[in-house]
Amino acid sequence: MTTVLKLGGSVVTDKDRPEALDGPALDAAADAVADALSSGDVDDLVVVHGGGSFGHHHASEHGVSTTEGTRDAGAVVQIHGAMKTLDEFVLARLHDRSVPAVPVHPLSVASRDRGGDLSLPTRGVETMLGEGFVPVLHGDVVAHEGAGATILSGDEVVTAVAEGVGADRVGFCSTVPGVLDGDEAVIPEIRSYEEVADLLGGSDATDVTGGMAGKVRALLDLGAPATIFGPDDLRAFLAGEQPGTLIRG
Ligand code: IPE
Repeated sequence: MTTVLKLGGSVVTDKDRPEALDGPALDAAADAVADALSSGDVDDLVVVHGGGSFGHHHASEHGVSTTEGTRDAGAVVQIHGAMKTLDEFVLARLHDRSVPAVPVHPLSVASRDRGGDLSLPTRGVETMLGEGFVPVLHGDVVAHEGAGATILSGDEVVTAVAEGVGADRVGFCSTVPGVLDGDEAVIPEIRSYEEVADLLGGSDATDVTGGMAGKVRALLDLGAPATIFGPDDLRAFLAGEQPGTLIRG
């Protein structure tokens, strides 16, 4: 059983300060992952983390988004470098807890075609899983045909890797406890976009990497059930429970 877990950038970093880690939040997440692996609740696990105050800060400084590219190699290296710095923190906190985490940097393997469609080969990730490793991927900057290099969100990485390895469960640990209805209550399950279109439609226009509307749409198309939950529910998700919002198309 393969699980793909995204740790939102806003969960593990302090989004108000450039390149600032939220150490206690990352520790709590690493504890939950380590405990789930050692108890056998989770066997094959892929971790993906977002950019938070590392990636987004440099991306906006250079005017790079998922669609606006750059041909400035220095900008590419700076955005990627910030993501690698965050990745080193994530890996170190996992290693402190004996989680066999190994890095996979999307810039080195992924690309977008002219239409923006992503190609992310996952054979390496599958082999790592087979050998008992926990591959750790992240949002990044990637080569984009006709545009130089654009931002690849961690959510897109999750979708591509989940499809590539045939994941059984997908979890998004984010700052919200799930998809919220008009009364700020968590919607337990979403089976079609129509059910939530009025709530989500258009409200996320300023989020360059998609926002909740884009996320829900992408997850409805995914072959595996996906769950969006807050940090307090990470342990429950890893234990096989269904906290937050379950999205299944
Ligand atoms: C962003 O990834 C990656 C970069 C800006 C380089 P995400 O969009 O997945 O990050 P979070 O989770 O929202 O912070």
